[in-house]
Amino acid sequence: MYQITNKTIECNRKDGDKNNNTSDKNVRIIFSSIKGDEVNSLAQYLKIFSENSINLKHIESRASLNEHSGLEIFVECEPSENLNQVILSLESETSRIRILDNIDEIPSFPRCIQDLDQITKEIWSSGELEADHPGFTDEAYRKRRKYFTDVSNSYKSGQPLPRVEYTAEEIATWGSVFRKLIELYSTHACKEYNQIFPLLIEHCGFREDNIPQLEDVSNFLKRRTGFQLGPIAGLISVRDFLAALAFRIFHATQYIRHPSQPLYTPEPDICHELLGHVAFLADSNFAQFAQNIGLASLGASDEYVEKLGACFWVTFEFGLCTENVKLKAYGGGLLSSFGELQYAIEGKAEMRPFDPINAAKESLTITSYQPMYYVAENLKDVRDRMIQFSKTIPKKFGIHYNPYTQNIEVLTSKTQVQSLLENLHQQTDVLLDTLKRV
Ligand SMILES: [Fe+2]
Repeated sequence: MYQITNKTIECNRKDGDKNNNTSDKNVRIIFSSIKGDEVNSLAQYLKIFSENSINLKHIESRASLNEHSGLEIFVECEPSENLNQVILSLESETSRIRILDNIDEIPSFPRCIQDLDQITKEIWSSGELEADHPGFTDEAYRKRRKYFTDVSNSYKSGQPLPRVEYTAEEIATWGSVFRKLIELYSTHACKEYNQIFPLLIEHCGFREDNIPQLEDVSNFLKRRTGFQLGPIAGLISVRDFLAALAFRIFHATQYIRHPSQPLYTPEPDICHELLGHVAFLADSNFAQFAQNIGLASLGASDEYVEKLGACFWVTFEFGLCTENVKLKAYGGGLLSSFGELQYAIEGKAEMRPFDPINAAKESLTITSYQPMYYVAENLKDVRDRMIQFSKTIPKKFGIHYNPYTQNIEVLTSKTQVQSLLENLHQQTDVLLDTLKRV
């Protein structure tokens, strides 16, 4: 869908390109007729193109959606040096005109939550274990994993998250992990974690003898920050994982690690998701950080998605911050690993101040403890630095998440941005007025 403005020409190219219609890409223009007779007016407009020797590739007309009468005319034409003259002529003979963005230059990415379902079908069909997985030779465990894969693959957005009846053995494994980790949280986790963890106990059934249901946790998060959980069968690509964060959807595994090694897992499992990550998704600063990194990934090149993935790894998974000169963990990979949480807080590894530009160059360490940790001042510091970093990602369009429709809006014109700014201005005005009253 396109957007038409009142008597303005919008050009979605850079300002410097406005007078240079010599790109090898076709140009799409839409304008509204101010002439009464439909057949004749269309012919007159098309004559402007032919008089300027511009070849038209496609023409459409329809009754105006914005005027009581008249036509909207869409043309796609070959690029030409004469195009500026055509636009000037059209400007004087139309009520509205807009040069559309070049659709070919906007990459494909999810625009609504339902689009994420398609990704899940394409990526999450496999649930096979690697040969070095502790459960590789355990047929019963493999069968159970297949069950979790089927449950998550049949899930569609908008449905209640599937409830799972965990076995006594699975609950015992969860209990072993839970018991060990809660020994460390008061001294090793950051204050945000320790503020929210009691709420998870109170509202979501976080107990040694109970594996919380994703549905209950998701409902809690939704009330706190608007985040929701989505079930997955295993690891997915960084691009797909980050894209879901743009919609405040966090994909979480529902299966549990093999009982033979309760304090080790070679892959994310429900202990990692629930004990490592969800507390932060209930924190407004961190939720904003997570969504921002997701929005930044939409339409970004593979190179920059990789950079965002590296930043995500050193923060969301293995981030440390300082509180009263002491190191504290906020990374979910740390907070769900008894051994590495102690190792990181003891400060034996190399520590560097968090800086997204350097962090973006890091390669991921997945088979051992991290050789180095990035230390942020606090969660707000992480969020603010990542927002600045996101601005360096080359894109020819802007991205806006509409919280009312839960859709991604692609911004390609100044009018779209001005409209959003106007809405923001109104909201700011109300808040400034409230400041005077309270
Ligand atoms: Fe994780």
